[in-house]
Amino acid sequence: MKKILILTGGGDCPGLNAVIRGIAKRARKEKDWEIYGSIEAFNGVLNEPQEIIKLTSRKTAGIHIKGGTILKTTNKDSPINFPVTQPDGTIKFEDRSDELIKKLKALHFDAIINIGGDGSQKISKVLFDKGVPIIGVPKTIDNDLSATDVTFGFQTAVQIATDSFDRLVTTAESHHRCMIMEVMGRDAGWIALHTAIAGGAEICLIPEIPYDIQKLAKRVSMRYKNGKGFCNIVIAEGSKPKNGTIVSQKGDKGSEHVRLGGVAYQLSQQLKDAGCKAEIRETVLGHTQRGGTPVAYDRILATLYGVKAFELALEKKFGQMVAFKNNEIVSVSLEKATQSYNVVNKNNYLVKAAKGMGISFGD
Ligand code: F6P
Repeated sequence: MKKILILTGGGDCPGLNAVIRGIAKRARKEKDWEIYGSIEAFNGVLNEPQEIIKLTSRKTAGIHIKGGTILKTTNKDSPINFPVTQPDGTIKFEDRSDELIKKLKALHFDAIINIGGDGSQKISKVLFDKGVPIIGVPKTIDNDLSATDVTFGFQTAVQIATDSFDRLVTTAESHHRCMIMEVMGRDAGWIALHTAIAGGAEICLIPEIPYDIQKLAKRVSMRYKNGKGFCNIVIAEGSKPKNGTIVSQKGDKGSEHVRLGGVAYQLSQQLKDAGCKAEIRETVLGHTQRGGTPVAYDRILATLYGVKAFELALEKKFGQMVAFKNNEIVSVSLEKATQSYNVVNKNNYLVKAAKGMGISFGD
């Protein structure tokens, strides 16, 4: 029998279980493959005792409709940058890749499928370069990987954000309020941009286009002057004012990053300081965008990724990541896949159409 190991790493994302099931169902058709999962990404292999479970058909049946990941995940413990707390309380990062490779070899896996975001695929690349037979499956609700046209989880996140936005519009209208809704997107504004168009926002703020607060304050005030009497704003968590700073905090790894929930309140204060008289309320969607059942589109994409990933393993095409390009499920080298991001360009057709309809980006 041949053995395949599946793991999920980085932040969770609707569709992870659909990928696991897709791999397992396709592998079972081959009859001579056993399917295993490592709990909490590579920690399941590195930990003592190891946490590696056999993925029987009973374990994977019907999981494609479930949010989260049955294999659990971590976005802290990278095997190539593993945080170890020192006696004085400080954290030092260690490269445990050689120890991991030794353990993987002892377990005799013929193929490994690493489902994860950019960080996870960088780990896949390091391991592949050291001889590990690994294949990547891209995951992120942010849709910011350039090697693939779409990532699963994105459509679900946009749907959740749009549903919430629609609810805020009716309450904004009733109370003559200005609503600010913060969505995820640390570096890329795709969720905000799609939600703004789907929901009909007046203002859409994204990390790629710094905003001018005076212009925004004017735009909000106009809504009241011209009789509309309410205003709805979508803001991505990584958005920043021109010449301004972002609200940040120390992340789990000690690095400085945008604080979820920070920018909505920051913008509210900035609008007031700029003389905006509207009554403002803030809503932060946070991790609701990453939870729950995936929409049909994401289930399909995730399942297709799973099937393709196993087929790459079958053909021994390692060092590849599955991708969706020009309506085809294809594969790209991990080398290429980990080289660039897909952020919103000012000249993107969605931005142009949004501006054409009067949505302000505050630029
Ligand atoms: O990378 C996906 C993402 O959704 C980002 O948009 C967000 O900044 C981040 O996850 C939050 O992750 P966590 O709070 O789980 O570390």
